Amino acid sequence: KMRLGIISALHEEQQGLVEAMQGPQRRSHGMRDYTLGTLWNIDAVCVLSRLGKVAAAMTASILVEKYGVTHIVFTGVAGSGDKHVKVGDIVVAEALLQHDMDARPLFPRFEVPLTGLQRFATDLELSTQLAAAAEDFLRDDVSSVLKAADIVAFGLQHAQVHRGLIASGDQFISSAAHLHQLKVDIPDLLAVEMEGAAVAQVCFELGVPFTVMRTISDNANEKAAVDFMRFVQTVASPYAFTVIQQLCQR
Ligand code: ADE
Repeated sequence: KMRLGIISALHEEQQGLVEAMQGPQRRSHGMRDYTLGTLWNIDAVCVLSRLGKVAAAMTASILVEKYGVTHIVFTGVAGSGDKHVKVGDIVVAEALLQHDMDARPLFPRFEVPLTGLQRFATDLELSTQLAAAAEDFLRDDVSSVLKAADIVAFGLQHAQVHRGLIASGDQFISSAAHLHQLKVDIPDLLAVEMEGAAVAQVCFELGVPFTVMRTISDNANEKAAVDFMRFVQTVASPYAFTVIQQLCQR
């Protein structure tokens, strides 16, 4: 039987989901609170990982090994990694890469030693369902869950869903030069964040199907920190909540 683990780094990225749970049971372990219950009739466990690859790997491992989840979805925000990917767009990962992994000359750049992989593929079925849920959300629900003024201010009228490569590292990218260098090294990059590829490695090693959904909060440039804060405060939670609701109800 399916049990879905839902991870976000920050409170605002999954706000509302814990409150929406039926029969919630709270368990604390390793400095995190895991809430077990059902979401729209799906057995689920919600948890905040905090930021960074180690925090995310720890959280994913505990979800699987201690709380028995069979599938994992990570939901949060990211910086844009491509000029066609705009603030408010949703990126559903097809694969994830750790952009700060570099064990040369022992292993090729980006390869996670002894996995033989630079890229960890997400589960196709789960990603397809999540992308469809995100499409439904952008088409039908944005105007009911967000204020009109915020929709205009963030340019969300034209928001789109993309599928492709997300890169993670223990760095908040806030310089156009840094992003440009990453783009030279990883041309098909769509978004940058700090957890997804760690969850991907854990799920690969444990054989757990997973996917990652990221809403673009900023352009990973000099304005990233300010844009990120504003986006997280106003837009992140209604997006995450409604897309997960759409996913569970499919
Ligand atoms: N998450 C959201 N924006 C980000 C950025 N610019 N760099 C890394 N992680 C992010």
